[in-house]
Amino acid sequence: MSEGDSPDLAELAKRRGFFLQSAGAYGGVSGFYTFGPQGASLKDNIENSWRDRFTLQEGNMEIDAPTIMPEPVFEASGHLDGFDDMLVECPECGESHRADHVVEDNTDYEEAEGLGPERVGEIIEEYELVCPTCGTGLAGQAIEDFNLMFETNIGPGSSSPGYLRPETAQGIFVEFPQLAEYARNQLPFGVTQVGRAYRNEISPRKSLLRVREFTQAELELFIDPEDGEGPDLSSVSDVVAPFYGVDQQEDDDSDPLEITVGEAHERGLVADPWIAYYLGVAAEWYESIGVDMSRFRFRQHLSGERAHYAADCWDAEAEVDGDWIELAGFAYRSDYDLSKHDEYSDEDYTIFKQYDEPVTVERPTVDPDMSALGPEFGGAAGDVADALEALAESDPDAFEDAGEDGSVTVDVDGESHEVPVSQTGFAVEEVTESGEHITPHVVEPSLGIDRALYTVLDHCYREDEVDGEERTFLELPPAVAPTTVGVFPLMDRDGLGEHARDVAADLRERGLSVAYDDSGAIGRRYRRQDEVGTPFCVTVDYATIGEAEDASEGAPGTVTVRERDTTAQRRIPVEEVPATLEALRDGELSFSEL
Ligand code: GAP
Repeated sequence: MSEGDSPDLAELAKRRGFFLQSAGAYGGVSGFYTFGPQGASLKDNIENSWRDRFTLQEGNMEIDAPTIMPEPVFEASGHLDGFDDMLVECPECGESHRADHVVEDNTDYEEAEGLGPERVGEIIEEYELVCPTCGTGLAGQAIEDFNLMFETNIGPGSSSPGYLRPETAQGIFVEFPQLAEYARNQLPFGVTQVGRAYRNEISPRKSLLRVREFTQAELELFIDPEDGEGPDLSSVSDVVAPFYGVDQQEDDDSDPLEITVGEAHERGLVADPWIAYYLGVAAEWYESIGVDMSRFRFRQHLSGERAHYAADCWDAEAEVDGDWIELAGFAYRSDYDLSKHDEYSDEDYTIFKQYDEPVTVERPTVDPDMSALGPEFGGAAGDVADALEALAESDPDAFEDAGEDGSVTVDVDGESHEVPVSQTGFAVEEVTESGEHITPHVVEPSLGIDRALYTVLDHCYREDEVDGEERTFLELPPAVAPTTVGVFPLMDRDGLGEHARDVAADLRERGLSVAYDDSGAIGRRYRRQDEVGTPFCVTVDYATIGEAEDASEGAPGTVTVRERDTTAQRRIPVEEVPATLEALRDGELSFSEL
């Protein structure tokens, strides 16, 4: 595992098949991880739980776009020009580092990214910061912009550059015109995507927390900015969470405010109702997958951190190994993304918004007299006519103020042209309109699955003592645990193995994830399942098959069900096992009720 992992968790993650550095046989490459059987299953469960909450329950639509997209998409989105991190190279060992991280790790500055390369260079000099690898001074080294996108060629040759997507969001934005059709052009509507994203991070660190290939779960919610109504907050208004607003962050003595989502919105702390709504949904969701809410907070972006188009942005953060890490971002992105694709592509990224009642409006128009403009302006006459049309729309007073005998001035390719108003055909017409084209605004909850998974493992990791022996276990919620039930025969003889295999088959048929284990002492088998977070184990013994010489321990035809966290055991009839375990997994029954 890489530097910075909690050692016990890293050791457990590899030994028990959660995740390991990829291609270790060839030395491994930083920032790439393979999820083992337990990790892949945990990841699937987290993704499916996200899908259930953010897509299905919200009535949103999910899409699945390619991970490679052509260059024009990223020209429009701004990633080609601006998706950079600050790189500083050590003059001695040649190792590359993120300059803002060097500053954050060695000074009191937080969020150094927002300070910009010049200031970061000055701080490196002021504090005489050194290369984290070899200790050589970094003062005076250039701070360069390093674009994080992985570039590739689409097809042979290099005429068609493409990029591995750095976020899943663009796959949604580019398809907006079609997606709006699917949503019958009715705002608001939400589109989700869960999939891989790629960033050529300068210095990947803390195993899954900063990697070069990771999974995002993003929701792009398209809203009408004029619609004052917003979402119904009632379902989340009582959710309590720590809110660390800009004011609290700027006041050194202030802690996050432990308040409800409803209060955070009413106080104006989380001004946008959609952001407030999804913070509430996310807080409940993170808790449901096993994040410890006493190590969780929502932090508002400081003005330097926020993209220029984002009106507001909050991060969900969790404390892991003593650091606060960003699990997700919740941004109000205005009309930035759709306007950009509208500008760069040939498609229309607006939506036609129908008025409740048709309205009559005055519409300034021009009908230039080309028989006069042609001789006057020659080849530029068409452009002059277009410029007149644009002027009528943006500044109709220019025509009215000039009067019938006056003239207006338009610029074409940097040259000013005077045109008599009488040749423009300017008029103000009354037209009845049934609606207008608007560019929807976007609210984006964007979550990282790998960071959620690592946080859940860290927050659910427990050590205790059972029967005088140390035990480690993962207190994972049953709904996300990689395996729901461990099934063991007490011994693999006298038909116990066969019966246990039947029990396992019945559980699998019911859709439960089952691990069958008949090797070693029963206590060892319990420990193995505890370590990977299996919440329940079922043991088949002689009472199950009704052949016990000593059946006093349980009625014939029963099995033992054991709970991971308390290690408590109950006997239940074998025929009730599938329904009982399903109810335990789904939270419809608690173990103490058995
Ligand atoms: N579409 C917006 C967007 O991509 P972001 O804050 O850059 O926003 C969203 O990324 C989430 O993706 C982050 O909150 C984090 O959980 C995850 N993420 C980003 N970069 C990552 C990396 N290098 N390794 C692991 N997760 C990452």
